[in-house]
Amino acid sequence: MGSNFIKYILARHADWEVVNLDKLTYAGNLENLREIENSPNYSFVKGDIASAQDVEKALGNGVDKIINYAAETHVDRSILAPDAFIKTDVFGTYTLLEAARQHNVAQYIQISTDEVFGSIKTGAFDEQSPFEPNSPYAASKAGADHLCRAYFKTYNLPVIVSHSCNFFGPNQYLEKLIPLFITNLLENKKVPVYGAGDQRREWIFTEDHCKAVETIMEKGEAGEVYNIGTGFEKTNLEITRFILQELGFGEDRIEYVKDRPGHDWRYAVNAEKLRGLGWQPGIGWEEGLRRTIKWYQENESWWKKIKSGEYLEYYKQQYGK
Ligand SMILES: NC(=O)c1ccc[n+]([C@@H]2O[C@H](COP(=O)([O-])OP(=O)(O)OC[C@H]3O[C@@H](n4cnc5c(N)ncnc54)[C@H](O)[C@@H]3O)[C@@H](O)[C@H]2O)c1
Repeated sequence: MGSNFIKYILARHADWEVVNLDKLTYAGNLENLREIENSPNYSFVKGDIASAQDVEKALGNGVDKIINYAAETHVDRSILAPDAFIKTDVFGTYTLLEAARQHNVAQYIQISTDEVFGSIKTGAFDEQSPFEPNSPYAASKAGADHLCRAYFKTYNLPVIVSHSCNFFGPNQYLEKLIPLFITNLLENKKVPVYGAGDQRREWIFTEDHCKAVETIMEKGEAGEVYNIGTGFEKTNLEITRFILQELGFGEDRIEYVKDRPGHDWRYAVNAEKLRGLGWQPGIGWEEGLRRTIKWYQENESWWKKIKSGEYLEYYKQQYGK
């Protein structure tokens, strides 16, 4: 998502300069930024947000705003090996907040998730809902969000936290449900659905998320929290069936696999506060999914490279094939 945001911002604000700090973990990919890598107002620093030295390198010439997209993000990986999540999501956020304080930045935005609130049976979480994280990923993000709040309260650092529903769109790493299922089907393989596939998620297309963060940058208030949600709530099975249908496959492609431990049944956020700043989603879930499918169809070399490498090992470990 970070690379989508950088391209979106540079296309719309020719007079802004962007410094991109990324450790390039398995999920990072500079190919996503090829088209802008030579732009005079873009620079890249390879580094870890949990290293004060690396952060200093990125902030060296002074920055006005920090938007923290960097994180370990995959729930399954957090169940297998939580340590990287604590290091990056909690300690990395602390390191960035501390640097933001030293450099007196004008705005710090933390890109967080609806998963910090846990699961909700009916209705939707608002910005005051208590945190009840259920996976090591969600707990790490919640820890980081608490630090953000504390840095605003204690040091008056102008911090804003956003809690978003699930992203989808071009360039998404293949372990997430939508790109995994699209690319599996493009390779004529099956798609692994957890449990009965009845978990409900709210979905936002990349461009709408970029717009939401831009709105928060321009109109959000320091110390505030904004939920980013669309109301496009679907079960995993509904998403799966839509992808199957678009690609001309039947339900025999579904392989029901053992459910994830502690799997949250439903996430939903109330985004009225953000809508009050003038933002609303522009791309429906079906249109967004069609655009995403088309992107993966047209960019086979991008995802084939990933599937032939490290991802394959992980996939084998997860699904045994
Ligand atoms: N994917 C979703 O549906 C979703 C929903 C809500 C919120 N979020 C949040 O949005 C942000 C982006 O999510 P994504 O799905 O694009 O993530 P991703 O896993 O696809 O990419 C994460 C990026 O962070 C970089 N990174 C990881 N550890 C780092 C470190 N220690 N230092 C510097 N860079 C590091 C990786 O190299 C990669 O470029 C995350 O903070 C995530 O918690 C994601």
